[in-house]
Amino acid sequence: MELPRATLGRTGLEVTRLGFGAMELAPFSSDVDDARAERVLHAVLDAGIRFIDTSPDYGESEQRIGRYLSGRRESFFIASKCGCLVGRQPRREGGIPEHEFTPGNVRAGVEQSLKRLRIETLDLVQFHISPSRTVLEENDAVETLLKLRGEGKLRFLGMSGTLPHLRDHIEMGVFDAFQIPYSALELEHEEALAAAAQAGAGIIVRGGVARGAPAPDHNPQQPLSFFREANQRRRDRWDTADLDELLDGMSRMEFLLRFVLSNPDAHTVIVGTANPDHLQANVRSAARGALPPDLYAEARRRLARPPVPGRSPS
Ligand SMILES: NC(=O)c1ccc[n+]([C@@H]2O[C@H](COP(=O)([O-])OP(=O)(O)OC[C@H]3O[C@@H](n4cnc5c(N)ncnc54)[C@H](OP(=O)(O)O)[C@@H]3O)[C@@H](O)[C@H]2O)c1
Repeated sequence: MELPRATLGRTGLEVTRLGFGAMELAPFSSDVDDARAERVLHAVLDAGIRFIDTSPDYGESEQRIGRYLSGRRESFFIASKCGCLVGRQPRREGGIPEHEFTPGNVRAGVEQSLKRLRIETLDLVQFHISPSRTVLEENDAVETLLKLRGEGKLRFLGMSGTLPHLRDHIEMGVFDAFQIPYSALELEHEEALAAAAQAGAGIIVRGGVARGAPAPDHNPQQPLSFFREANQRRRDRWDTADLDELLDGMSRMEFLLRFVLSNPDAHTVIVGTANPDHLQANVRSAARGALPPDLYAEARRRLARPPVPGRSPS
């Protein structure tokens, strides 16, 4: 099955439009043992997926990618994050771990990622949790990544960006790629995403299948409450737009994934899963490409309706 490809903006990297998000290999995300992680990671590459996203914050994720995939390094591009605390237990606010963008911590993070991933060079390092321009400047954070790039430790600079800071990040002109939350059920970043693509950056979409919230087999017992609440909002939006009426034989997950693929600015969508069956289903969906244009237009019309909370049971 041939997966559609795109160029990741000015990085020039030729990526598959379906990428893989490795957060789901972390213990806080799902209960996945080493054997399953190994199986899923090999299946990712066997399916032809060429782009993997991870982070030092994702528990064993980096170590598992290093352990199981370092022998297949030529088959994929690897992106990680920086600013995650190294050597200290982060405080957590609403489930989000504390970050620090000082030269020492950014450097330590990149060097730790290289060791954990068992590689010499990261293809992309993204600032985690969308720090403001002021925070970046006060900490010489961009300069630190540029130095590390000069040392051959990374190839491209990225930002995991969200509003309100994302507009400043685009203006800074230093980022080769942006990771942005975007799905049919969360279109809030669509304009900024288009602006980043217009500026020539590569666009990596996260949350593209709305964290699986509308899937019939979705586990609502998500341990982090801020994920739980957001998932309820996603289900409400699905129901308000009556998207089930448009499925025409597709699963909800196929519809969501192909909705993102209908936006040519979304160069790759890093769908996360720890379930091999879900991975195969996502590969089949992505191979079908964008939604038919009339269906896409109708979905957009319906998604413009204001959401009515509480239509779907929590
Ligand atoms: N930069 C950041 O701050 C940040 C934040 C969050 C995530 N990320 C990155 O983005 C990646 C993806 O984002 P995300 O995980 O938040 O959202 P996502 O990819 O929209 O959703 C992942 C969820 O969807 C479920 N899923 C996937 N395919 C499915 C299918 N075919 N059927 C049913 N359920 C399916 C998965 O559960 P199963 O495991 O059960 O399949 C998982 O819980 C992460 O892995 C991570 O790399 C970055």
